[in-house]
Amino acid sequence: MPAAAIEFQNVTKVYRRMFREEQVTALSCVSFEAGAGEVCAFLGPNGAGKTTSIGLLMGFHFADSGEIRVLGCTPGDVRAKEKIGFLPENFAFYKYLTAPKLLRFHLALAGNRSAEAAARIPELLAKVRLAGYEEMKIGKYSRGMVQRLGLAQAFLGDPQLLILDEPTSGLDPAGRKEILELLLALKAQGKTVFLSSHILPEVEQICDRIVIIDRGRLLRAGRLQEMLSTGDRVELVADRITEEIEQAAAACGAVVERGPHGVRIVLDAARKREMAEALWNGGCDVVSINPVKSSLEEVFLKVVEHGEGGA
Ligand SMILES: Nc1ncnc2c1ncn2[C@@H]1O[C@H](COP(=O)(O)OP(=O)(O)O)[C@@H](O)[C@H]1O
Ligand SMILES: [Mg+2]
Repeated sequence: MPAAAIEFQNVTKVYRRMFREEQVTALSCVSFEAGAGEVCAFLGPNGAGKTTSIGLLMGFHFADSGEIRVLGCTPGDVRAKEKIGFLPENFAFYKYLTAPKLLRFHLALAGNRSAEAAARIPELLAKVRLAGYEEMKIGKYSRGMVQRLGLAQAFLGDPQLLILDEPTSGLDPAGRKEILELLLALKAQGKTVFLSSHILPEVEQICDRIVIIDRGRLLRAGRLQEMLSTGDRVELVADRITEEIEQAAAACGAVVERGPHGVRIVLDAARKREMAEALWNGGCDVVSINPVKSSLEEVFLKVVEHGEGGA
């Protein structure tokens, strides 16, 4: 893996209510890493601990135990914060401001009053497809426009690392697609993106690494491609197949589909050799044998259902 941009080591976070006994363990011994230049998706059902982890990463609150490093620094260190663009969950902007004014305000908040930075604002608005709306008050924006403005705000300082908490939540499919395209463009520029989400088919299209948590515990962490090939099913493609072999394949639990490029047979990996031999012996030509990949959604549901542990 490339040098780590984000490292969590045995991080535990407990929320305590003042003057009350009750406490919530939001994170329990969570460890994972995200590499520089990677798009890492942080996945988990509601209440899993995603926003808590992001809050710790940004230095908004402190872990009870364990260690966190972000861009080689402890969270909250200004040297790291200067290189981070952040989009919080459920953010709200001043609705009477326009987008250029809001972005200038955010630049000022970051202590950047240079004319050069302000001059980049039109370019940034064009990048998030808000050019032409410079005079419109943010209160009149659609949900998708507000979300894209949120991303423009996160891109303001040309950050090395983007930390985005549910950047596509509440958006329609077209709005989500626009955000994902923006994230892909960032990835092409070599930026590191750490985003939490629970919209899996889309995440699957853009991310390199996946971290899955549930109820404060790490369930899985690893490269997406490795996580998708579970190795328990294979796909054989044959270009001629007799009725007899098709029936025999179906009888041993295989799924047989006839397509334009041959017959696709999907079966348990354990029966791969047996099936290939039956095809060869029956005079069929086996064109390919490959492991079947699961979708991220299938992997996620399986991992969350079984409460699987380990990295
Ligand atoms: N400020 C808080 N005080 C007490 N409990 C909290 C607080 N913030 C979050 N929690 C609890 O911590 C757990 C994790 O929440 P959160 O990090 O928001 O999860 P996610 O972002 O994955 O939905 C939940 O059980 C939530 O109720
Ligand atoms: Mg959250």
